[in-house]
Amino acid sequence: MYREIVLDHFSKPRNVGEIENPDGYGQAESSACGDVIEVYIRVDEGHLADIKYRTFGCAAAIASSSFASELVTGKALDTVMEITDAEIADQLGLPEFKYHCSVMVMRALHQAIEDYYAKHPEANPHQTAPSD
Ligand code: FES
Repeated sequence: MYREIVLDHFSKPRNVGEIENPDGYGQAESSACGDVIEVYIRVDEGHLADIKYRTFGCAAAIASSSFASELVTGKALDTVMEITDAEIADQLGLPEFKYHCSVMVMRALHQAIEDYYAKHPEANPHQTAPSD
């Protein structure tokens, strides 16, 4: 059912864990099954310097988290915000009925970036300057 890439990331997940005092934190829950993921990020000059996650979910969810963590590390925050759940699922070749397992990681990651922007509004390129 799963491609080799999914089995590889599931059996040897990369970047698992937490970041102490992260620059951003996000959490997402699958509405389909109730499983949960937590994402912690470290930001350096507008780029995702580090990402860690804890996934409480199935093999597809763990593989998606691991795959996404490698894909986004080092990328500009704007670029990461444009990566969709569907891209992760497609690149892993997940069967359609497991798509819902792959949506959590990007949702939580985007939330972590929003959390970072909330703490550092000056870093948000989409922030509108307050009017006088
Ligand atoms: S069945 Fe819950 S994340 Fe896959």
